[in-house]
Amino acid sequence: MKTCIITLSIFVLTLSKTDAFMKHGIQRAAAPVVLTSSTDTFADANTNNVASLSCASRLNMVADSEQQQGTTIIDKDFRLAGIFLVIGLLLDTIPYLQLTVGPLITVLGVLFLVQTFRLNFVCDSDSFSLQDSSQESGENIVVGGENKWMYDSFVNYDFFPKGWVDQPQGPILVYFKETQTPKDKWSEGPGKSANSEEAVAKGAVQGQVHFFPALCNVKQLRAEWQKQNCSKL
Ligand SMILES: *[C@@H]1O[C@H](CO)[C@@H](O)[C@H](O)[C@H]1NC(C)=O
Repeated sequence: MKTCIITLSIFVLTLSKTDAFMKHGIQRAAAPVVLTSSTDTFADANTNNVASLSCASRLNMVADSEQQQGTTIIDKDFRLAGIFLVIGLLLDTIPYLQLTVGPLITVLGVLFLVQTFRLNFVCDSDSFSLQDSSQESGENIVVGGENKWMYDSFVNYDFFPKGWVDQPQGPILVYFKETQTPKDKWSEGPGKSANSEEAVAKGAVQGQVHFFPALCNVKQLRAEWQKQNCSKL
């Protein structure tokens, strides 16, 4: 019974975070289209100032940028999607659960699967970004300020549930907190408790909180963040 409640709370937690995450992803997907449609269908995943580059120099940059800028696209990890889909399938064979938790888990599994294909977790020389690779003609979308965070703005990062990052099944959520986002947004949603006086008294550093489902190779991501000296409490 206890395990059941814990599992359920994790699912509910994941669902609520995923919800915000998906909304974020969709908004972001819509924005860069404006940026590229007026010129051509060529977008460079690794430069911020695509709009100001000529077509020719952009061609060169596409070829060179990965090596030059030390950009790492973190490997995709389908474990989380797989686990949810398998658990969903199992639950779908159990009376009652097949009408309640089962479909929920299956829906989450499908969402995770789609997002694992779509999203690239990218670490370049000075920042971490989330990029959408789902645009037609194989474009990689450059993400401007909104989904790109400087390593030196990190105040903390972690993987939840705690300790799962080193276990075979991997964690469910990737968490980090940064001070790049304007301060007035910090206390929205989950940031409210994370930035409360109580949390600060316990040693927390204030900043914007981010949660993502763990859809990439989290050990590789952690190694990148460690290499870049991202702050961790
Ligand atoms: C991280 O810190 C180490 C030790 O202080 C230093 O040698 C290294 O150059 C730093 N790396 C980056 C990317 O700043």
